[in-house]
Amino acid sequence: MKISGTGSALPKQVVTNDMLSQFLDTSDEWIKTRTGVSSRFVISDEKLEDLAAEAAEKALKDAGIKAEDLDFIICSNVVNEYITPQLSCIIQGAIGATCPCIDINCACAGFIHAVEMAEAFYQAGKVRNVLIVCAEEPTRMTDWSDRRTCVLFGDGAGAAVLTPGDNIKSVKLSASSATEKLWQYRTLQPTPYITKDEMDVPLQMMGQDVFKFAVTAASKDITRALNDSQIAASDVDYYLLHQANIRIINAIQNYLEQPADKFPTNVENHGNSSSSCCPILLDECNRKGMFKKGDKIAMSAFGAGFVSGALVMEW
Ligand code: COA
Repeated sequence: MKISGTGSALPKQVVTNDMLSQFLDTSDEWIKTRTGVSSRFVISDEKLEDLAAEAAEKALKDAGIKAEDLDFIICSNVVNEYITPQLSCIIQGAIGATCPCIDINCACAGFIHAVEMAEAFYQAGKVRNVLIVCAEEPTRMTDWSDRRTCVLFGDGAGAAVLTPGDNIKSVKLSASSATEKLWQYRTLQPTPYITKDEMDVPLQMMGQDVFKFAVTAASKDITRALNDSQIAASDVDYYLLHQANIRIINAIQNYLEQPADKFPTNVENHGNSSSSCCPILLDECNRKGMFKKGDKIAMSAFGAGFVSGALVMEW
């Protein structure tokens, strides 16, 4: 397949580090130095499904495809206000599509997993045009009195339309269960029979362990995808990486021994918007006109699970 169109949509509320330091024991200096984040977009009165539909419509317009031409919709999402129905079905109705759809939760690595699924369906002859939408509101998962987590995240939606082609050269996914490193519990409705203890626990994170996993997994995944597609690291024009922390991005860049200008970032003014990071960054680069036909692009993301993945494609 090939990516024929991209789109994104963001909440209007911008929250700066100085705004956070008004109610948290933190500072602009600490957050910028440790993460690279200066500000993030945070959901206030918006609904995530509306941002998702807006990103989808922009991607369809960019691709020159009508919603009724879609054969499948994949939505990557960790949390939203609905437990059911799935977000992909809400998006399907909002944009006027009639095709089947599915939600996936592969945490921050959802976009790479969605591309792998789209490509597999395409190779099996089941689809021609696929819409991927990543829509996330991780700011609703964190405890806003916990300075170790809430400063890291932002919200938003990113989308991509995939159409027939052989531009996706390789996708490599991996998983290694580490449920105690990055997790959140929610309580379900009680029943007369529930006897176990249940807790509502906001997002918990062993930051340094996640950091190490992220650098190792991304470096491995990208190397595997490059080897598989027989493309050298130096031949890649752009590396679009999960925007969790500028220090993680710099460590992966050092591992690959590639110049910094091949690594566009937006972590500075978005923070980590989970699986939306990759398609939002892709859309921003696309709309700036950075990509030309034939450019080689590597993407990589990692997240809770742990799960991770990388892809190599030609623009
Ligand atoms: N403001 C000020 N101080 C803070 C702070 C904040 N927002 N958050 C933590 N601190 C403090 C800690 O309490 C600790 O203080 P102490 O030494 O008195 O105990 C100190 O800063 C150092 O904390 P530490 O956790 O060791 O910092 P770090 O350099 O590892 O940076 C992260 C923390 C979270 C930024 C970093 O570990 C990270 O980015 N990890 C990966 C997270 C990630 O990517 N998650 C999403 C994956 S998809």
